Amino acid sequence: MKNIIVTIDGPAASGKEKISKYLSKKWRLKHLDSGIIYRRIALIFLLDKVDISKLDQIKKKIKEITKISFRKSKRIRNQQISKLASRIAIHNCVRDFVNKLQYDFVNKNKNKHGFVIDGRDIGSVVFKKADLKLYIDVNPEIRAKRRYKQLIDSGEKSIYPKILKEIKLRDKQDKLRKNSPLVIPKGAYIIDNNATFNDTVKQINNLFKNL
Ligand code: C5P
Repeated sequence: MKNIIVTIDGPAASGKEKISKYLSKKWRLKHLDSGIIYRRIALIFLLDKVDISKLDQIKKKIKEITKISFRKSKRIRNQQISKLASRIAIHNCVRDFVNKLQYDFVNKNKNKHGFVIDGRDIGSVVFKKADLKLYIDVNPEIRAKRRYKQLIDSGEKSIYPKILKEIKLRDKQDKLRKNSPLVIPKGAYIIDNNATFNDTVKQINNLFKNL
């Protein structure tokens, strides 16, 4: 599918990545995970010891960044980076930088591909005129249970109440921030991802038939 943009927004651990990957394969769309960009910036800030309580230090460092990889890696998936990404994502200078990277990526590839882009503000701010907007809805307990299982299955240590607490904290940070808070974008379809993956993609594939 060329020249179309599908946006997927939703809270932490709501399954956006799995759904995006599925749609990318099924409908031949290029997948862009905007969370990776926030995480990559968080890692740079961490390694370069940027004091994120000081806005001038954040602004200075952002101006110095010349290249960001869009690739996922284990290094940026841990809880420390998750929390840091969420904390730096409140700043407009960070968000403008990330949004420009997304626009450049889409502009460069738009004649060759369509896109599925996931994050927190993709349908509400970054690509308001997208062809299809989805908002993934799952209750926090189910999200925490799934994340817990994922970590245990991959051999990591994990404590369910701690995961639930962190998910609720990130929800609060993402929904209550002043700049580009997580909202249900105007015109978005709410996708219930509380049940099985099959149920979820059935809802979405039906919407693709109208594109
Ligand atoms: O999606 P993921 O959990 O990888 O995102 C990490 C953090 O980056 C989120 O908790 C959120 O604070 C921030 N983020 C954002 N806007 C996006 C994508 C991610 O604010 N479009």
